[in-house]
Amino acid sequence: PAPAPATPPKLGFTAVAKNKNDLVTVAEGYNVSILHALGDPMHFGDESWKDDGSETPDSYNRRIGDGHDGMYYFGLSEAGAYQADRGDRGLLAVNHEYVVAPYVLHPAGRTAGAARNATEVEKEIYAHGISVVETKRDNASGAWSMVRGSRYNRRVTSATTMDITGPARGNALLATKFNAAGQQTRGTNNNCANGYTPWGTYLTCEENFLNVISRAAGDDATRSAKEIAGLNRYGLPQNRKSPYLWETAGTDDLFARWNSSITGATAADDYRNTINTFGWVVEIDPFAPTSTPAKRTALGRFNHEGAWPAPAVAGKPIVFYMGDDSRNEYIYKFVSKAVWDAADVGKGMTAGAKYLDEGTLYVARFNADGTGDWLELTFGKNGLDATNTAYAFADQGDVLVHSRLAADKLGATKMDRPEWGAVHPTTSEVYMTLTNNNDSNRVPPTATPTGRQARPDAANPRYYEDPKGTSNQKGNPNGHIIRWRENATDVTKLNWDIYLFGAQADAAADVNLSGLTDVNDFSSPDGLYFDKRGLLWIQTDDGAYTDVTNCMMLAAVPGKVGDGGVATAAGGTSTIAGAKATADTVRRFLVGPKECEITGIAMTPDNKTLFFNVQHPGEDGTPDWAGKTFGSYWPANQADQTVKKRPRSATVVITRKDGGDIGI
Ligand code: FEO
Ligand code: CA
Ligand code: CA
Ligand code: CA
Repeated sequence: PAPAPATPPKLGFTAVAKNKNDLVTVAEGYNVSILHALGDPMHFGDESWKDDGSETPDSYNRRIGDGHDGMYYFGLSEAGAYQADRGDRGLLAVNHEYVVAPYVLHPAGRTAGAARNATEVEKEIYAHGISVVETKRDNASGAWSMVRGSRYNRRVTSATTMDITGPARGNALLATKFNAAGQQTRGTNNNCANGYTPWGTYLTCEENFLNVISRAAGDDATRSAKEIAGLNRYGLPQNRKSPYLWETAGTDDLFARWNSSITGATAADDYRNTINTFGWVVEIDPFAPTSTPAKRTALGRFNHEGAWPAPAVAGKPIVFYMGDDSRNEYIYKFVSKAVWDAADVGKGMTAGAKYLDEGTLYVARFNADGTGDWLELTFGKNGLDATNTAYAFADQGDVLVHSRLAADKLGATKMDRPEWGAVHPTTSEVYMTLTNNNDSNRVPPTATPTGRQARPDAANPRYYEDPKGTSNQKGNPNGHIIRWRENATDVTKLNWDIYLFGAQADAAADVNLSGLTDVNDFSSPDGLYFDKRGLLWIQTDDGAYTDVTNCMMLAAVPGKVGDGGVATAAGGTSTIAGAKATADTVRRFLVGPKECEITGIAMTPDNKTLFFNVQHPGEDGTPDWAGKTFGSYWPANQADQTVKKRPRSATVVITRKDGGDIGI
């Protein structure tokens, strides 16, 4: 059995009421300030954000990007090294997942037309990716700021050159006109959640890369049946245009490479393999601003939400947990071949190559009796070879590029959108959000599934209709959080239960299985984070409860696997459920502004500062550009609701007014 959490912390704040206000509402006694927002200059020489979209494309190589998402805080020593226990000065790495409609980074939104405006597309390419900025607390005032002009401040964008490393390096599937050898590529895209490594580097994870890759009608005729099977499984059938249409902006490679339809004689002449260069976990050394980021292929290729490490133990492998954020996709784990040596802290990309380029990738099967299996995705094992009928694997690079097809073969469990994971700091039990599912994918228990559909099962037990509002979503519209404990001696075994079910407080008892009330009801858990004390922070990205409240963040004190009750879920067959929630174990800490998602979280190691991100405030509205009306005016209106400026994704800083520890 796993050890009990060491002295579980007690929640010590008054719950925030659900609301639809256009600001961050945090528990009483806490301060809210903005660290940085879309377009803020990171260096000297560029002007401040003007609120009119006039910033140049090139300046976005030195400005904060759009769509703030996953992030991590790395303490920075006076000597410029990683200092894990430093709470008042650090490097904050933030993902800029995508360019948010209504496109406030352009003068008047996105210019309409069949072909995109090249200036706008170039700006969008540089507004994606990652920012690394030095941040500092003024110890007299307690105020945090971005250190403008710091030598560490850096942008990585959708145009940055990256190494391809691990078993798929040099594979023909990754050959492009940019690098015929398949050893490098350009850009990271749609970086959703994140991870970090025990040696002090940042992991950024490529999720919805189909946002930017198009494939023309008739392209199937130029491809092998095997190539077509791979493209279709990753959501890129022929005649599929990306929502961003970057490839229409011009013939320069900066634009043309987003068109994966074949124009050259060989893969080395064109960008037919563009899609295979995305969907990876990318490592960045925030302490070495000129280092080349690496796409670590050993961790597999899918809609990577994030990569969360278990606590590192000397002499043992490093373990990462990962979700493939799509409905009915899978949960994965990577186990390094090298065993942990604390002397590698600070060794940057060299340590990354040691721990992340060799290892074993597994995918999860959750059995109805509460046990589970990690199924090994290794070429030549479990039928992962040329004899596989759905897709004939050629080598380990092929298995990794097509991880989903390999996982299909092994019979992994289709999950209700696996998003963020978090590992308990003392028990090492793993929690993962299953944000929601719909009836296109999770069909009623009596229906006959077609294609990749699935009925409810033990680990994804609910099928019901959103009881309120206009969405009428069916399936599992409110989502849940699964958790598991690894077997102490067998790397292929686990035991699981369900920690918490999302629901609105007034839902039926067979939907509101965790017994949520007004102080803690929520829907669509997405972001998830354990701080060092074992407080679990839950963030929401919801479509089913936004008729009642904006998205939110809750704090929780979880128990451990197996301490739950037994329940039967609506429409399902599971008898495995977590403990009931109470106001003492789950409590709402803050609510965000209008039309936003709350995502990304980092606590400083002294527990005195909490960073989180507000993504896409005001995304639903159709702006009146001349009249300056938007669906939200946040963050400019945080302190004064009469201020009306363009809504921008931003990083928020939370501290306690009395200088105390957050959350307790
Ligand atoms: Fe980018 Fe899975 O949310
Ligand atoms: Ca997410
Ligand atoms: Ca999301
Ligand atoms: Ca609803």
